[in-house]
Amino acid sequence: MRADDILFSQGFGTRRICAGLVEQGHVRIGGRVVEDPAQEFEPQGLVFDVDGVAWEFHDKAYLVLNKPAGTECSQKPSTYPSVYTLLPGPLRQRPNKGAVQGVQAIGRLDADTTGLLLLSDDGVFIHRMTSPKRHVPKVYEVGTKHPVTPAQVTKLQAGVVLDDDPKPVRAAACEATGDQSLRLTLLEGKYHQVKRMVAAAGNRVETLHRSRIGAFELPADLAPGQWRWLRPDDLLLLSRAP
Ligand code: URA
Repeated sequence: MRADDILFSQGFGTRRICAGLVEQGHVRIGGRVVEDPAQEFEPQGLVFDVDGVAWEFHDKAYLVLNKPAGTECSQKPSTYPSVYTLLPGPLRQRPNKGAVQGVQAIGRLDADTTGLLLLSDDGVFIHRMTSPKRHVPKVYEVGTKHPVTPAQVTKLQAGVVLDDDPKPVRAAACEATGDQSLRLTLLEGKYHQVKRMVAAAGNRVETLHRSRIGAFELPADLAPGQWRWLRPDDLLLLSRAP
């Protein structure tokens, strides 16, 4: 693949900008400054640097972000900064089918919700993770305003009716993890689902953290606000039933 095409595919700007970056000596591949935008490289496994910042080539982007509280999952946030501001520019500018789109959050978390957020530019993967038919389990750690009672746990397991659907929704799993905390596993991703289910069961969500999707846990060493590429073993966990 040409050096300028490598940069373009990774979100470093238009083809012209990418050719300019190479011609002006901003790009090193294999430790050497590349001068010819047309020079060819094998992109798989390639690490190059632009102005001294190392960048891994990824054909498709699959990321995990530990979402901090006070951030919105929207590209056009209304109140808080967007989670996309936590990512380096190229991840927000990767081309996709002719348009500059960058990675997309896979499902949304509320502004005050923390934890595991996946992002990708692979439409098939995004669909696979969000399709209601796939029933990918999502695990939430919930802090509640009032003490958790066995009756509330039973209600959440049996199913509660939310205001937008007469059909009850139930937690795939629910357990009290403390006096005022719950672990809830959901197979759907309805709007404010945890908060509405907990309210319908007679309590109130004070804090909400997503800890797991499928068999993939939020990496313990990923601090709030940090992201990393998903590795092949992570993707395997995400594709497997937990
Ligand atoms: N359910 C909610 O209520 N909020 C979230 O952010 C995620 C699930």
